[in-house]
Amino acid sequence: MNARKVIIDCDPGIDDALALMLALSLPQIEVIGITVVCGNVPVEKGIVNARRVLEWMGREEIPVYAGERTPLMRPYVDAMDTHGEDGLGESDLPKPMGKEESADAVTYLLDTLEREENVSIIALGPLTNLARAYQRAPHIFAKVEELVSMGGTFRTPGNCSPVAEYNYWCDPDAAKILYEAFSADTQFKEKKIHMIGLDVTRKIVLTPNILEYMKITHPVLGELVEKITRFYFDFHWKQEQVIGCVINDPLAVAYFVDKTVCQGFDAYTAVETEGISYGQTLVDEWDIWKKPQNSHILVKTNVKAFMHLFLCAVFHANENECDMVLEQILAGKEDS
Ligand code: RIB
Ligand code: CA
Repeated sequence: MNARKVIIDCDPGIDDALALMLALSLPQIEVIGITVVCGNVPVEKGIVNARRVLEWMGREEIPVYAGERTPLMRPYVDAMDTHGEDGLGESDLPKPMGKEESADAVTYLLDTLEREENVSIIALGPLTNLARAYQRAPHIFAKVEELVSMGGTFRTPGNCSPVAEYNYWCDPDAAKILYEAFSADTQFKEKKIHMIGLDVTRKIVLTPNILEYMKITHPVLGELVEKITRFYFDFHWKQEQVIGCVINDPLAVAYFVDKTVCQGFDAYTAVETEGISYGQTLVDEWDIWKKPQNSHILVKTNVKAFMHLFLCAVFHANENECDMVLEQILAGKEDS
């Protein structure tokens, strides 16, 4: 099986870090580059964290690029209250070795898409870098083979306002540019943005039990995950009375390699950029506006299938043992 070439655009960020660990552990994915965007933390901190994860996974050869430092039009609002000042839960882990100047992310995206074929993008943060790339060279950006974006929300409440999810709330104009392009720009033909929104990611909760199992199967990585999620656990209890933490971004990676992990439907989706509901994704489920469908909206997920993939790929859990453990831990939550 040939691995699929992927650029991961992210704002690491605790769950971005977990998503990178998963992507770097899956043989179906060849991570050819990481582009960092302003989001959970400023770009400079995101670059350090991306390089930390590459070191943990022994993949320092993968290049990391510096993306947009502010949203297209709105003032930049970070999420350090959720991810910590360092972006990895105030874990103060060792800084990556070496000092690397990171070249420009948007230039890298366009140069790579122009030079190579069959490159996909998994976007785990605000869509600022991707929107800039589309603005600079629409015909090159249209070469993206598949775009999976963790962002938005369909029927479940937002996490930055009653209707807006952080990635699209942080830069609604960028999200609007891309969703409109995938609808109106004929270069995208049948392509759609695969929207992994809060409807499915909220069901992916890293619980204390699962964390304990990670530490059993892979003590080194399990301890690292414990260090970077402690702060996140506390935040989730205070914010949403969740014991554990919602890990949004890894689900986008899992879905990229196994489309059965989530189920959904095609629709036209618009992104609101003005007023009290800015950042909202308006999903035309009943095709009332008769506009070209630009998105595949994921609404159901198989929690057990995701956790099995994550624990076996990253933490080297034994498949049969993992099945048995997840039966115990997830009783009744398999499909939701
Ligand atoms: O709303 C959740 C998303 O915003 C995740 O990607 C998280 O990392 C933040 O970027
Ligand atoms: Ca993210």
